[in-house]
Amino acid sequence: MTRFIHYGGNKRRFVRRMFGEITRRYDLTNRVLTLGMDTRWRRRLAAILDLHPGDRVLDLACGTGDVALQVGRSQPHCRVVGADPVPAMLARAAERFPPIAPVCCEGEALPFRENTFQAVTIAFGARNFSCLERGLQQVYQVLAPGGRLGILEFALPDRGFCRGFYRWYLTWVLPRLGALFNRGYAYQYLVESIRHFPAPAVFLDLLASVGFTEMNTRRFLGGAVWLYYGRK
Ligand SMILES: C[S@@+](CC[C@H](N)C(=O)[O-])C[C@H]1O[C@@H](n2cnc3c(N)ncnc32)[C@H](O)[C@@H]1O
Repeated sequence: MTRFIHYGGNKRRFVRRMFGEITRRYDLTNRVLTLGMDTRWRRRLAAILDLHPGDRVLDLACGTGDVALQVGRSQPHCRVVGADPVPAMLARAAERFPPIAPVCCEGEALPFRENTFQAVTIAFGARNFSCLERGLQQVYQVLAPGGRLGILEFALPDRGFCRGFYRWYLTWVLPRLGALFNRGYAYQYLVESIRHFPAPAVFLDLLASVGFTEMNTRRFLGGAVWLYYGRK
């Protein structure tokens, strides 16, 4: 049964309010739910971008700045813009990673000129777009020619033990753990939004339809988390 709306204006309002409510304990909840593995995935995301000094990087759906921190570690001489529609998230990102330039906006309406960034990252954010295709088109536009895109997102493993185990974890464990550490409904939404997000093959087709090339993927946790790479 679907309890949340996964497209359009109602999703947009719901998602903004929800992330505003969970900001304070967001980092702690992440660490607990992933047993600290999420930091390693974000490090891999930053590494895959092959950043150079002076590169402009957009961390879209930057949340509390976890990816920006990793980008700063992997290439201290690049300029990082953090974009997110939730002011509390941006404020936390600026506290944790002062060099970040915070911009309050949504992925579907980016206020940047075409060809501005050498790299764009989106970690666990694309699932929250109210229009995924529109968000990816906007990202394509603001990337400079040759620019790199790195996306981390959850998926449902497609076979074997991992699929069964992950389904059990999503249904029985994650919502309860989420409720212990933060607002329970946010983690019910998380589970449902993972189920609604396109499967990796479909998502790769969508990236290609927007114009991305040289696509590459890495999978973590038996396919529960995917790292997508593409170039403009
Ligand atoms: C699960 S958090 C991920 C944050 C961060 N990237 C990380 O790795 O921890 C998702 C973020 O997406 C943001 N978000 C929600 N809707 C968005 C949209 N339409 N465009 C851009 N960001 C959005 C939320 O405010 C939230 O900070």
